[in-house]
This record gives sequence, C-alpha cells and structure tokens, in this order.
Amino acid sequence: RSNYIVMSAVRSNSASTCPILTKFQKDCDTPTPYLRNVANAIADDMRDGLAVEGGGDLEMILTFVDALPSGNEEGLFYALDLGGTNFRVRSVQLGGKKERVLATESEQISISQKLMIGTSEELFGFIASKLASFVAKEKPGRFLLEEGRKRELGFTFSFPVKQTSIDSGTLSKWTKGFKVSGMEGKNVVACLNEAMEAHGLDMRVSALVNDGVGTLAGARYWDEDVMVGVILGTGTNACYVEQKHAIPKLRSKSSSGTTIINTEWGGFSKILPQTIFDLEMDETSLNPGEHLYEKMISGMYLGEIVRRVLLHMCETSDLFGHFVPAKLSTPLALRTEHLCKMQEDNTDDLRDVGSILYDFLDVEANMNARRRVVEVCDTVVKRGGRLAGAGIVAILEKIEKDTKRMGSGKRTVVAMDGALYEKYPQYRQYMQDALVELLGHKLASHVAIKHTKDVSGLGAALLAATNSIY
Ligand code: GLC
Repeated sequence: RSNYIVMSAVRSNSASTCPILTKFQKDCDTPTPYLRNVANAIADDMRDGLAVEGGGDLEMILTFVDALPSGNEEGLFYALDLGGTNFRVRSVQLGGKKERVLATESEQISISQKLMIGTSEELFGFIASKLASFVAKEKPGRFLLEEGRKRELGFTFSFPVKQTSIDSGTLSKWTKGFKVSGMEGKNVVACLNEAMEAHGLDMRVSALVNDGVGTLAGARYWDEDVMVGVILGTGTNACYVEQKHAIPKLRSKSSSGTTIINTEWGGFSKILPQTIFDLEMDETSLNPGEHLYEKMISGMYLGEIVRRVLLHMCETSDLFGHFVPAKLSTPLALRTEHLCKMQEDNTDDLRDVGSILYDFLDVEANMNARRRVVEVCDTVVKRGGRLAGAGIVAILEKIEKDTKRMGSGKRTVVAMDGALYEKYPQYRQYMQDALVELLGHKLASHVAIKHTKDVSGLGAALLAATNSIY
C-alpha cells in the first residue's frame, strides 16, 4: 500500500517541469528488450570467463568447492567474515545430520575507515587480535574441541580472489572502498596466518571462501534446491553451482560432477545505462573503471548517485530555491538507507522526506522539491533493482541450459543476502519484476528467491568442516 501511495504521488507530479530529471529518467530507463540484452551480454561474459582466464568481464573464479555441505558435518569450527565495514567472527558446534547446529556464537566488530585504506599488517593485526579475544572468551562446556585437534577456520573474504586451492588464494583487486596497501597479488591466507601467529592464536584456515560461496553453502545446508548465492549489500556478487564439463578452463582430469563458480559479476561493464553521474562517481572512486555493474546496483553507491543528481539539480535548476546545501557536496553524505526511508514515506505531504532532507542536508524542501527527490531515488533504485534481476536471470538461464531443472518443474532456489535486499522493499520488487519479465511466468514459478540472512558464516564454517585435515 505504501508503495502505491508514493508511486502515485510521484506520478501526479509531471516530471516535464524539470528537464534534468526527465533526461536522467530517460537515460536510466531499462525497458524489457533492453534488459534482455543486458542479461544476454552477462551470459556471454559468463561463457567467455568460463572458457579462458580473463576471457570476459566476469572473472568466473574457480572456487575449488566441489562438495557442498551434506548435513553430516560434526565438530567445532570457526568462521571469520571480512568484506565490508564490519567483520564478524563466529563459532559453530556442528552435530551431524540430526542435530545440525548445536551451538553458535558470534561477534561483530566494525572496521574503521583508517583500517580500510591502511596497511595489511594493521588490518590483519586488528582482525587477529579480535579473533584471539573471541576465542579467549569462549564459555567452557558450550563448545567442544576434540582432543589433539587444532581449531579450524573458514575465512570469508569478500573480494575478488584468484583461488589456488580451497585454502589459499591471491587478492586480484580491492573493491567497495577498501584499498589496503601491499596486498594485491598476495596470498590472503598467508597474511591472516602471520597475524594469527603473532597473536599466539593456534588456528588453521581450512577454507577460503567468497561471501556468495558462503551464502550458497550455508543455505544449501538447510535446503537442497539452492543453486545460486547472491549478495546485494554494500557490494554485489553471485555464485552458483556449475557443471564441470561446462567449464573449458578447468583443466582437470575429471570433468564430471559440479563445482561452485564465483562470477564476480560486479565487474560486468557492457551496455550499461551509464549517465554522466555514474561516470563522475566512478572517476572519483577508489577503483575507477572497475566493477561498473556493482556501482549501479549495490548499496554503497545508490545514495551517492542520487546525491550527485540532486546536487546538479540544485546548481542548475533551483531544486531548493537558490540554496545549494553544503552537505550535498559531501561525497557519501546521502546513504542508501535514506533513499529507502524517503521512498517509504506515505504521508500526504511527504513529511518523512522533508525531515530526512532537513536532518541530512540541512535544507527546508517544499512539496515540489520533495516529490522530485523521491523521483530521483525511485529512478536510481528501479534501474539498480532491474539490472540485478537481469543478472540473476542470466545465471538461472545458464543453469537451465545445462540441467533443464526448472523446465521439468524442479524448484530452484536463489539464496539471497545483504542489507540492500533485506531492507529495501522497492528494490526487491523491481528486481522481482525484472526477473519475471525476462524469465516468463512459467519458469519463474519454479524459482524461489530466499532471504538467507547471515548464513555465509555458517557456510564458511561448514566448508572448513568439509575440508578439515582431521
Ligand atoms: C564485491 C567483491 C565480491 C563480493 C561482493 C559482495 O563485489 O568484489 O567479492 O562478493 O562485493 O560482498
């Protein structure tokens, strides 16, 4: 209901009064045929990335995860999750098929901006110290490490990593505002090991996984139909179950069975509806020219695109009279959460929009300005959600081509995690609409998008169990 009211408020105010907005909306438009081309182009890049290393925009990283959790995993395992402004440590006592998760505990610690762009020693030193104190706080009796065993850890590292085995890999490049010096090309597990040793922590990294892989594995533990893990949060990514025979670059003797591919779809860059605001944001980012799809669809960037559009509207078309709020010139001042709150405003006078603009931009906005702001938010969020939907369709169609599972009526689950998906109903709706538009009702009826919150830690712990040395 709230969506309907906001949308009608938006519609009732013709955008023709603001040429900048009209042009922006036109540039961001993603009608079905266009979106179909995007899905096809993503599919082409998937194919090229599977053929040879570096073949397409999508890295299609081999994860060395050939066996997903079965439910039989037992014992105490740990997970460490690094990929955004927080990192999380978790312990999981696994009790096998019947008892599943006997006990679990976790702690979330925020990573300062300074650590995100500091040195690897600082970052990993900080992580290891927090991990050490987490282990030291463990309540005796609740968790049980079998005698003679070393503690084992699944390390979720949510950046593009060229995996060399299940428990090692080198960082290709940083994304999402991280730029820790001296790490690109380095083995991330070695960095963590060194820091753990320095903190007297006797732990072994048994699995190095991406958050998409962790989500897929964690969700699969509870539901056998999970074939895809998607992250829509600060950044975005998708990982899926691929048939080994369909991966030409996999030079392995056995080409039977399946393996998990980490697509790193954030790197997709073709035929995207880029506007001048996207181009400018990209130029000033820490990774210019890279992860362009991510910059259009993920939580770190949506608010920033809106801020740039509003600033331009203020400077050139009197959005807030002659006033250009100083805060509007501050990068990242407007966050995706603000867009969501503004879009959810169902009051007649868009009161919440007014107070958000007042609180965050120090500006008194009249009704007309409020409507326009909501329109800008809606345009950016609609484009993002629909493009994300096209990506999911590309993956589902790839799976369908090789397995025909949906066509034969088999339920296929996309496990989804990330705050953007969780907290932004309009975004979710736009994504879902695009999915049905492109896939058609029949196939889409066999697809379930399942919100699997925070399962990537469990997934990493399970993969540590699968790859335990004991
Ligand atoms: C970025 C990272 C990717 C991660 C995603 C979601 O795109 O490159 O590895 O999975 O963000 O966190």
